Amino acid sequence: LRTEALKELEDVQNPQQLNDLRVKYLGKKGALTEILRGMGGLSAEERPVIGQVGNEVRAAIETVIEEKQAVFLQAETEGRLRAETIDVSLPGKQLPAGAVHPLNKVAQEIEDVFIGMGYTIAEGPEVETDFYNFEALNLPKDHPARDMQDSFYITDEILMRTHTSPVQIRTMKAMNGQTPVKVICPGKVYRRDDDDATHSFQFNQIEGLVIGPDIRMSDLKGTLLQFAQEMFGKQTQIRLRPSFFPFTEPSAEVDVTCAQCGGHGCRMCKQTGWLEILGCGMVHPRVLEMGGYDPNEVSGFAFGMGVERIALLKYEIDDIRHFYTNDLRFLSQFVRM
Ligand code: PHE
Repeated sequence: LRTEALKELEDVQNPQQLNDLRVKYLGKKGALTEILRGMGGLSAEERPVIGQVGNEVRAAIETVIEEKQAVFLQAETEGRLRAETIDVSLPGKQLPAGAVHPLNKVAQEIEDVFIGMGYTIAEGPEVETDFYNFEALNLPKDHPARDMQDSFYITDEILMRTHTSPVQIRTMKAMNGQTPVKVICPGKVYRRDDDDATHSFQFNQIEGLVIGPDIRMSDLKGTLLQFAQEMFGKQTQIRLRPSFFPFTEPSAEVDVTCAQCGGHGCRMCKQTGWLEILGCGMVHPRVLEMGGYDPNEVSGFAFGMGVERIALLKYEIDDIRHFYTNDLRFLSQFVRM
């Protein structure tokens, strides 16, 4: 039996055959098992002898099986390693790289400038109440200045915010009368506008609010000059034109010198040498009051700008819709900028 088994094992080609042979000789119904099981019928003298021989044969077969198994295992491992070999010298596949969207990039730049001046970021909901979006900003119901911002109403009292200014009020209330307040509020805003090259029903604003014991218009002007020069270049100058917002008094619109023509006049600035970038003013006493501050104790300034507008000017883009259509020919120009 041993000779026969070992001879058969010699010719084994694969793990499957090896297993078949194990079953054939050592399995429950295997040849050797059969013999050992039959030992009950042997005499007391024969039993130990046959038992010993039987165990030797079993050990011999097991040894060979184990050896064979080890050989198969090694062959398999080697085969797998060979198949999985990676040629590290092969050139890699070129994957198209994504990039930060130009609007996010500009928003981040604006935020960085103000964070550098010690501002923190505050956020608020895009679905607002009439109170925060209008009323608390000195725009009572039926006030004609509400028409400045065509709105998307959800109910009589709830609307998509038309500007980031409601975050001013939310911030003031959260501060509970404490100073200083020094925040910028970035976020999406919505207006019932027809989309064209310069308008979009949804766009992004960044609002700024500073409140303290002795905040003056000159602080506002200095802050905006610093911002303009970091955003559009050191040589940039600003000018403030009188304007009107219900929540600031006095109010101003701010222009920067046109970088394209250096202020001499070109198509970009419609020959004026100036480009409008934002609205601002000293926080209206009534707004301070509604935010929980005493206008006799503190004063403040606020400003609000459109991120799209800043981006259009900075990168000399001619149509706001480029920002929203995700045309790769447009977006890929900003990959390495
Ligand atoms: N909220 C104004 C707008 O959307 C901008 C603004 C903000 C003006 C803060 C003055 C002060 O047009």
